[in-house]
Amino acid sequence: MFCKKVKTTSTQLGYLFMLNLALVATHSYGQDKVLTVETSHHAIALNVNAKKDLSIIYLGERLAYPDEYMHVEGAYRQPEDYTGLYNAAYTPSGSRNLLEPAITVIHADGNTSLDLQYVNHDVENVQEGVSLLKVFLEDPAYPFEVTLFYKSYYKEDVVEQWTEIKHRENGDVQLLKYASANLYLKAGSFYLRQYHGDWAKEMQPEEAKLTHGIKTLDSKLGTRANLFQPSMFMVSLDKPATEDEGEVIFGALEWSGNFRTDLELDPKDNLRILSGINNDASSYTLPAGKIFTTPAFLYTFSDKGKGQASRNLHNWARNYKLTDGKGSRLTLLNNWESTYFDFNEQKLKELLKDTKKLGVDLFLLDDGWFGNKYPRNGDNAGLGDWAENQAKLPHGIDSLVSEATEDGVKFGIWIEPEMVNPKSELYEMHPDWVIKQPKREEYYFRNQLVLDLSNPEVQGFVYGIVDGLFRKNPGLAYIKWDCNAVIYNAYSAHLQHQSHLYIDYIRGLYKVLARIRAKYPNVPMMLCSGGGGRVDYGALQYFTEFWPSDNTDPMERIFMQWEYSYFFPAISSSNHVTDWGKQPLKFRIDVAMMGKLGFDIVIPKLSQEDLGFCQDAVATYNNIKQVIWQGDQYRLSDPGKHSVASMLYMANDKKNGILFNYLVNNRYDQGSMLPVRLTGLDPGMKYRITELNLYPGTPSSIDADGVYWGDFLMKVGFNPQVNVSRSSVVLKISKAD
Ligand code: GLA
Repeated sequence: MFCKKVKTTSTQLGYLFMLNLALVATHSYGQDKVLTVETSHHAIALNVNAKKDLSIIYLGERLAYPDEYMHVEGAYRQPEDYTGLYNAAYTPSGSRNLLEPAITVIHADGNTSLDLQYVNHDVENVQEGVSLLKVFLEDPAYPFEVTLFYKSYYKEDVVEQWTEIKHRENGDVQLLKYASANLYLKAGSFYLRQYHGDWAKEMQPEEAKLTHGIKTLDSKLGTRANLFQPSMFMVSLDKPATEDEGEVIFGALEWSGNFRTDLELDPKDNLRILSGINNDASSYTLPAGKIFTTPAFLYTFSDKGKGQASRNLHNWARNYKLTDGKGSRLTLLNNWESTYFDFNEQKLKELLKDTKKLGVDLFLLDDGWFGNKYPRNGDNAGLGDWAENQAKLPHGIDSLVSEATEDGVKFGIWIEPEMVNPKSELYEMHPDWVIKQPKREEYYFRNQLVLDLSNPEVQGFVYGIVDGLFRKNPGLAYIKWDCNAVIYNAYSAHLQHQSHLYIDYIRGLYKVLARIRAKYPNVPMMLCSGGGGRVDYGALQYFTEFWPSDNTDPMERIFMQWEYSYFFPAISSSNHVTDWGKQPLKFRIDVAMMGKLGFDIVIPKLSQEDLGFCQDAVATYNNIKQVIWQGDQYRLSDPGKHSVASMLYMANDKKNGILFNYLVNNRYDQGSMLPVRLTGLDPGMKYRITELNLYPGTPSSIDADGVYWGDFLMKVGFNPQVNVSRSSVVLKISKAD
């Protein structure tokens, strides 16, 4: 390896850029150059050698002395790299590479080889704390260029990486593979935590040691791409990271379509991670002069366990990614599970009154409000025909919005604008707008097909649905955007190159969403996909929140929300109180409070006592929601390992917190035998702990007069007194005067 050969003669510390906090620097060592991207705690160091190869020489905890990144390789005694490319920053194929490539192409002349050499780089100060390193690479034998982008968020310790590909060849180039990022990690062993699922079973974790060869996480579903597996994952170094200990990297692709992440333990025992759009059935024809831009791969590295990594992502998402991440959210009453398709204007007007009575901000009208020739009275007809059903809503949405305003609540609506039922006027009018193979029998997912969003006409139609709703009903305050089907029989009547469909579909979707956001920048929108089939930061940048799962059984939700919470902040998680599961109302409400609270129950069926409890809970939530949405989240007792689950949200100033505790094991005499050790408190601050959300008439077994030092609560802990008769306990932690 070059590192062993090159002696560090001089260290020219040439900071190209050091404005505010973001840090990108270059150091020269003889003919070698090192580019470092450093955030507050982690760093990636890239090396340019005399042959102009760009490689990753370090990824991990930030070193105190940046000129020492150059010495990392020399500290290892590992087998030889026969190619000098195992640690390439963007591995080309067809030349000397022997491992999984980041990019594979067929040049205009039919040649399949690619080499990429460093040309130069550029650093941009995007805003305070955010910098963008661009590294320009080109093939010495072909006019073919790749630019690597590293956008670093200093305080949040997050990096987004993506790639631009372009050429000036005589004809089109075929892109067979085009990763967003290509990382390289060194450790004694690597442990992958990944997720799998299905409808109502989202975010089921699995953790295993990576063995040599390639482990691939991918989706080929087109839309609803996360149904079986999301792109989020974690890799721990040397041993599985715990909540507060260990080195761990969290990664995910910002893309709502087919993705592919290869984790390759290479012949040197190092880990290569290549992530991007799934190239399966998706070769892309790139004309000369055009740019192919990949989506971003995002990652955060923590040397203090999974908890810190999750808080990095929460801060990053709230500060930079989610729509209105630092803003507020609306509590709501949804009618899906209380009415399904069976409602009319009268029933909805009563529901508006119930919304007011409950004390939440908004009523959300779900599926079933549209379609006339083919009324949407079930999931087999009407999808695509976005006009109010005359029989159900003779006075339109308009009158409901006005009625809501009179009742003092807001009004929101469900749409699924990317989809069509074959039994619809839309399908009859525009069969060419539908994704389906012309020579094959149609095959349905929930009786529906997917519209061809690669077609600009269809994009215009989908945009028009949302824009039309807002223009006709300026008081409309909320959209739930659903996406229930996957793509079968992928074929577009619009596209010249069929293998572009999966990519151009998602690009079309993002164009529509960007256009909606340009006109309606802050309107709250929930991202739903038959549950959590599309929870990713590519889509979430246009949404304020997501629907984690149709499974709202609170016992299941404790586990699911726990896993989601590693990657997404509580403010983005829509949690509704429903009739799923066997847990008491209090338990259901407590679990739903650990995010953005909503209800989907029949209010008139509640007893006076239950209704009173719900109303009080909404009022309580309004007092504590700020800490849950904007605070720091600490997972204290893992439901996967213990009988009690405990989750803490602490305000940034450490003066207030909310601690949720649940019994998750119904075996004899289970409960909080041990105190729960708190994290994130000020050791030198005194705290009082009181119980919230008590069901009327239930005494608390918590001593409201007790005052404890943060030091004690973090070293010894506090017992929430969870047992079978106190299966759900919410505690308020406040600075004692
Ligand atoms: C999907 C959603 C549900 C509901 C129904 C309506 O399943 O996940 O919340 O909106 O569609 O058909």
